[in-house]
Amino acid sequence: MGRQAIVFSKSLGEIAGALNSSLTVAEKLDCLVQVASRALGVRGCSLMLLDAKRKKLIHVATHGLSDRYVRAGVVEADKSLPEIMEGKTAAVTDTESDPRIQFGEMARREHIASILGVPVMCRGRIVGSLRAYNRIRREFTSAEEEYLITVANLAATVLESSGTLVSAEGSGSTEPKSAPHRRAVRSPVRAVSFAHPSEEDFARLLDFYQIEWVYEPRSFMLEWEGDKVTEMFTPDFYLPGLDLYIEMTTLKPGLTSQKNRKVRRLRELYPDTKIKLLARRDYDRLLAKYGHGPLAGAKTEGVGRILFSADQIQMRVRQLAKEISRDYEGRRILLVGVLRGMLCFMADLMRYLEVPADVDFMAISYYGSGDGGEAVHITKDLDVKPNGRDVVLVEDIVDTGMTLSFVLAHLEARHPATLAVCTLLDKKVRRLTDVPLAYVGFEVPDEFLVGYGLDYREEYRNLPFIALIRQQGRQGDIGG
Ligand code: IMP
Ligand code: MG
Repeated sequence: MGRQAIVFSKSLGEIAGALNSSLTVAEKLDCLVQVASRALGVRGCSLMLLDAKRKKLIHVATHGLSDRYVRAGVVEADKSLPEIMEGKTAAVTDTESDPRIQFGEMARREHIASILGVPVMCRGRIVGSLRAYNRIRREFTSAEEEYLITVANLAATVLESSGTLVSAEGSGSTEPKSAPHRRAVRSPVRAVSFAHPSEEDFARLLDFYQIEWVYEPRSFMLEWEGDKVTEMFTPDFYLPGLDLYIEMTTLKPGLTSQKNRKVRRLRELYPDTKIKLLARRDYDRLLAKYGHGPLAGAKTEGVGRILFSADQIQMRVRQLAKEISRDYEGRRILLVGVLRGMLCFMADLMRYLEVPADVDFMAISYYGSGDGGEAVHITKDLDVKPNGRDVVLVEDIVDTGMTLSFVLAHLEARHPATLAVCTLLDKKVRRLTDVPLAYVGFEVPDEFLVGYGLDYREEYRNLPFIALIRQQGRQGDIGG
């Protein structure tokens, strides 16, 4: 056996040992890229996984690469060594001249001269890519390629057995349980050490809604003097599926104004970059909605100011029904409601409609609902088939948009002819994920509302009007 063959065989033994140990998934993957880098004698290796939309590749375990490189950006799967996404090996012998390199300047600075990349496949489906980065320009041998493919297979078994990958829909099934594009990779695999527990809680919430995230993905240059960068900004999260950065100001409220300034500057310099600040109050309210955090136990002292009277609501609902009847003239629609908040709205809306309408309902599990599930799922699905139908999803209120985006993906996967959303209330300022709203009754402020179907812990649903709740001297300062 040649020297290299011995090195490879030893290293595979080392990886097998790590895989068969009590290490965490993240630790196993870290070990794997580290051992592979050493065996190949390269500068570093990275295991990248496709995001939920299968568009972007995210580094989940790296060795030998600088933070700057890893955070330089999320790699576009169809631009960076695209043949890997077709299940082939990609070799770049000279990064300087190769058009398949997305961050050429960065590779140069990082002294990456050549790259070998192979697909990571689970049950015949490509879920990511394993790449080796070399300091010198050179061709890779077929033994090295074979070795990297073996390591990629080992990585795949770790991912598979950890449940990190949510399985793809079976090819034969005509009624997928949910949209396949949301089901590529779940996040907890990432070797993340959070700076603050609130960040971890937030990451868990995103996981629950199957919203892909990257922690501290990259740094933006904000100020510089000549060649020297004098100020950088690293947002806490990047949500690739939504192309949105999130900065949490929950840790030190004193830093909020500084962060506000940084975010303003970032928007100025990078106008195409979407970023949202999540303040302590937003965050506490977000958690409280699911029964967690400091505001979760807030006691109510009844109903406060009335925002919309019963008459105002009826007038607006009638107008919405008119708009829908006009837009769907001559068609038969399917109204879909997600239980239970929309019940008053649905009942009124359907009676004002002038087009024929079928009605059906879904129910979903909520974060922290204690049903043991770690991801949002449907507890009651539609009885009517939405395929080929003109579906109007009826919602009581859209807040962060996370519920709606999950439900929309589920419905879209079942191929309705058209799909539109009609919501009575839109709490726009709290939106995290952009969702298309075709019909909106009222735009509402960032307050917790009850009545006309909306509840606070199952109370106040049966009020005929919509009001704020009064709570321990303050109004509406509760999760919502
Ligand atoms: P999202 O996923 O954050 O958009 O939350 C939407 C769901 O949260 C709604 O369907 C409601 O059930 C609930 N919700 C949001 N805001 C309020 C509120 O102010 N009062 C009562 N329920 C609310
Ligand atoms: Mg609802």
